[in-house]
Amino acid sequence: MSVDVLLGLQWGDEGKGKIVDFISKKYDVIARFQGGPNAGHTIYINQKKHVLHTVPSGIFNKNVQNIIGNGVVIDPVTLAKELSQLEKIGIDYRKNLFISRKAHLIIPTHKHLDAASELAKGKKKIGSTLRGITPTYMDKTGRNGLRIGDIELQGFNEKFNNLTNKHKTLLQYYNYENDISNDIEIWMDSINKIQEIQFIDSEYFLNEKLKQNKKILAEGAQGTLLDLDFGTYPFVTSSNTISAGACNGLGIAPNKIKNVIGIFKAYCTRVGNGPFPTELKGQIGDEIATKGNEFGSTTGRARRCGWIDLPALKYAININGITELSMMKSDVLSGFEKIKVCVAYNYMGEEITHLPYNLNQNLLQPKYVTLDGWDQDISGITSKEEIPTTFNKFILFLENELQVPISIISIGPDRSQTIFR
Ligand code: GDP
Ligand code: IMO
Ligand code: MG
Repeated sequence: MSVDVLLGLQWGDEGKGKIVDFISKKYDVIARFQGGPNAGHTIYINQKKHVLHTVPSGIFNKNVQNIIGNGVVIDPVTLAKELSQLEKIGIDYRKNLFISRKAHLIIPTHKHLDAASELAKGKKKIGSTLRGITPTYMDKTGRNGLRIGDIELQGFNEKFNNLTNKHKTLLQYYNYENDISNDIEIWMDSINKIQEIQFIDSEYFLNEKLKQNKKILAEGAQGTLLDLDFGTYPFVTSSNTISAGACNGLGIAPNKIKNVIGIFKAYCTRVGNGPFPTELKGQIGDEIATKGNEFGSTTGRARRCGWIDLPALKYAININGITELSMMKSDVLSGFEKIKVCVAYNYMGEEITHLPYNLNQNLLQPKYVTLDGWDQDISGITSKEEIPTTFNKFILFLENELQVPISIISIGPDRSQTIFR
């Protein structure tokens, strides 16, 4: 059978977790392919909130096997906490959660290096989640990394100590001082806990599933505009968040990928620094943030809000080969008399519809089309027939511009607040 990929088209937090959980019943396997505990995927089931950082969002469906792929970076401390929380609510992760031996480990000094690097950047800092993501991927590409599979081999502690000592030298370069002995103790305890999960050669596991005609969904983290190559560099994360990342991050061949599901909000948000052409700094932005409860699931930071940006969405749709779309949080726009949609940019005196290399906000002004808003509270509707006319016009306008079907409309955080069109 084939692999479908689900990923974010903006700057993360589009609502990927909710949709993965919602559609997980259609799949045999859900596999996370990149990122790490910088991600926070929120799922509401019967009004109860669950936030996952490392564990795939299929975990609440007992018929699904969940894989943490080789492309993911693992903080054992965060993962151990997630496991304990799952255990409390009776989720049997020992049976249906697996982790790739080739996934890299975030060690305590990686987090300190992240903090030291951000401090050194001062005002130019990226606004990292400080989860040690970039230093871990740097060690991976630098061929110094420690992997899940190393836990099972002799010499693990020695490898850990060597890497820690190397990092200590780097931290001296940054003049960064911090006592890490306590962190190491907790980290080692967590290594014991995560051994309750089955370590596997996930590339064999997944390809075997394909041979058995099983259906796999690859779950992305972050979003296309945070992709290391195609995002708003350098204000990006350190992994490939795009559909191609699913091949690297799972060991699946490109010709096995069928549908690529793109998740986007009916507006835009961004947490951390970097360009955001349609950002609304005044009252409307604040209103969207309040109504949308736009605070980061991982760090609790306030998310910056703005109108939807179609040139950026079209860029993301192209790079990922999106075949269908899910539009999230449309309920948040209820009550706005007018809704703006960015359809082009004015760039140095010229109108353009692509994302230019230089995203300097002073050079780039969004050009908007204004649509009528809708008054009705849409968070309780249960079928496409109940969609108010002006909201439907908004959907059709976007679909016509994007030329990809919007197959799911999400109108609230709960599983039940989801409409198929
Ligand atoms: P992810 O990282 O892409 O999984 O998204 P997050 O979980 O970080 O952020 C999405 C937030 O929006 C979470 O708090 C969700 O509970 C919430 N959410 C998801 N879909 C909807 C929706 O349609 N309407 C509203 N109001 N909230 C939603
Ligand atoms: P999910 O999967 C939103 C942002 C950070 C920062 C930049 C780099 O929940 O959508 P990093 O910690 O990776 O070095 O941070 O990327 N960022 C996210 N923003 N959602 C996420 O994940 C994010 N993961 C990282 O805020 O700007
Ligand atoms: Mg999130």
